[in-house]
Amino acid sequence: MKGAIFDLDGVITDTAKFHFEAWSQLAKEQLGLVLPAEFEAELKGISRTDSLIKILEFGGLRDNYTEEEILAMAEKKNGYYLQAIETLTKEDILPGITRLIGELKDHGVKLSIASASKNAPAILEKLGLLDEFDAIADPSKVANGKPAPDIFLAGAKAVELEPKDCVGVEDAVSGVAAIKAAKMTAVAVGDETELAQADVVVPTTADFSYALFEKTWEAAK
Ligand code: BG6
Ligand code: MG
Repeated sequence: MKGAIFDLDGVITDTAKFHFEAWSQLAKEQLGLVLPAEFEAELKGISRTDSLIKILEFGGLRDNYTEEEILAMAEKKNGYYLQAIETLTKEDILPGITRLIGELKDHGVKLSIASASKNAPAILEKLGLLDEFDAIADPSKVANGKPAPDIFLAGAKAVELEPKDCVGVEDAVSGVAAIKAAKMTAVAVGDETELAQADVVVPTTADFSYALFEKTWEAAK
């Protein structure tokens, strides 16, 4: 294993609840919709615009809004989200992640971010982790969002590595599908049944280690 390509939301810090709260506020205020709890998982890994389209489809409202109105609503949601993440600090780094980063670096593994979030650099900055990563793939520069492989391929390319030499790290079903489509080894955190497409699934980020990543990569390659 020469590279570890990380998702951010749900892997490095738990921002899924903030995304869901921001979407819920927007849906209630602008669309008169109450989002069911299952939406929190369904929207994981999905880009801002694709998330809004899913919400509009859920409400049977897909054709009621122009492209411009959709962009304006997505922008509004991002305003709510930015407010919610204002207070993030290094205390919000998920368990085991700082240790894992140290272990991977000690073994010369390159670290890259493959998040769908346009807020990834700002979040990493708040967590004090911006300088720990060798690269951050830019989601606005890839053609297709997760579950397409594009952002993971961009993450590997940004550190000049072949996908086969990399492990991808995810918490979302769409993200695990993206890693496998990129022909990388997938390490996932969360529900074993939901994330069954991954090469290994652990219940919490505290279970991540260099040894687990290396062993899983060896077995899967
Ligand atoms: C992903 C989240 O990391 O980023 C999604 O899991 C989110 O829920 C997506 O929609 C896009 O994020 P942003 O910050 O660009 O709106
Ligand atoms: Mg995620």
